[in-house]
Amino acid sequence: MYTGGIDPHTHLDMEFMGSGTIDDFFSGQAAALAGGTTMHIDFVIPVNGSLLSGLEAYEKKSKKSCMDYGFHMAITKWDEVVSKEMEIMVNEKGINSFKFFMAYKGSFMINDELLLQAFKKCKSLGALAMVHAENGDAVYEGQRRMIELGITGPEGHALSRPPVLEGEATARAIKLAGFVNTPLYVVHVMSIDAMEEISKARKSGLKVIGEPVVSGLVLNDSWLWDPDFITAAKYVMSPPIRAAGHGKALQAALSMGTLQLVGTDHCTFNSTQKALGIDDFQKIPNGVNGIEERMHLVWDTMVESGQISVTDYVRVTSTECARIFNIYPRKGAIRAGSDADIIILNPNSSFEISAKSHHSRSDTNVYEGWRGKGKVEVTISGGRVVWLNDELKVFPGSGKYVEMRPFSYLFNGIGKADAKYLSSLKAPVKRFRATT
Ligand code: URP
Ligand code: ZN
Ligand code: ZN
Ligand code: ZN
Repeated sequence: MYTGGIDPHTHLDMEFMGSGTIDDFFSGQAAALAGGTTMHIDFVIPVNGSLLSGLEAYEKKSKKSCMDYGFHMAITKWDEVVSKEMEIMVNEKGINSFKFFMAYKGSFMINDELLLQAFKKCKSLGALAMVHAENGDAVYEGQRRMIELGITGPEGHALSRPPVLEGEATARAIKLAGFVNTPLYVVHVMSIDAMEEISKARKSGLKVIGEPVVSGLVLNDSWLWDPDFITAAKYVMSPPIRAAGHGKALQAALSMGTLQLVGTDHCTFNSTQKALGIDDFQKIPNGVNGIEERMHLVWDTMVESGQISVTDYVRVTSTECARIFNIYPRKGAIRAGSDADIIILNPNSSFEISAKSHHSRSDTNVYEGWRGKGKVEVTISGGRVVWLNDELKVFPGSGKYVEMRPFSYLFNGIGKADAKYLSSLKAPVKRFRATT
């Protein structure tokens, strides 16, 4: 019996790349509950840059929720209005984290100047800055290169945005956050390059959190070369799923504590939607499934193989997320006063993943055919049994919005470090003036 999973990274009912994700707040959450996840944190996307309008839209979308959820807010442009709206989000709306895109040039991407302003604002509010770390200008260049070479298929996606571009942006974000002295959360760490930057930063005392996602941990990029377009296209996400060695290295980093928690980036498009990019990989909607599979796959890959303990499993799938987003011990713990979100995972029974039996609305599953040990047999959400005997009992409207307060433990000591830095600047410099 363990505390229910918390997925820190999902995109339900999101408009993206000319499509809408196929799972909404009901189907995505039902799938989550069937897989032992009892809370997720989704990314609100602003409407024409407005955070308030974005939140309003997501409040409507999430009315059909059957599981508890919270929100991060994406920031897609920067001006005084956005800066003021960030205050409202943190002080009145229960949002304590903001995601900045260093990629998706021409749509979500923001430049370093704005990133710095935004980091400063996050710090003043006690909100956690999150980054999608890829060098968007270089990705754009890589895409031009592939098209010129006539590489238009899904493999062009991976070839156009290699690990070095993820490593570069991760290092840059870490250094800028360090310069501002505010904590940083790197979402979907997919490569050794990015992981090593996080490792280096943490060793030097910087407050950097690294989130691998299940696809990056357990899959590899070989699928992108599959001759069948739909098979290949379903693996297209950003940053891309990497060559095999990267996943193994990310697993090791997770087991050593270099990376702290596991998300999914559940952002599901069906075959018809993926086919938008049949002639051009740049038009394939980016994203893979995982909200239902995460708890099973982390157990099978990490615990069953002996890489992490059961205690670590609970930490990386639930407790650490609750601590980072300041909702512990209401979430992420089984104790008096906590929400009764509990799972029973039977280590001796097995699971099998297939689009035929999963609960997502997608017609494909990137983990199709995966068989493993350790099955979530019971899920209890808010004290109610919602998953038992392979049956879901869920109702739209039963999920609650979980407000998240600013100044999580990651902000401890920030003020002291600032004071020390300032006093070091004010130390008098003795200068002698030549007299005549
Ligand atoms: O491919 C991805 N990751 N889709 C979702 C958007 C994002 O960047 O997280
Ligand atoms: Zn992203
Ligand atoms: Zn994402
Ligand atoms: Zn399943």
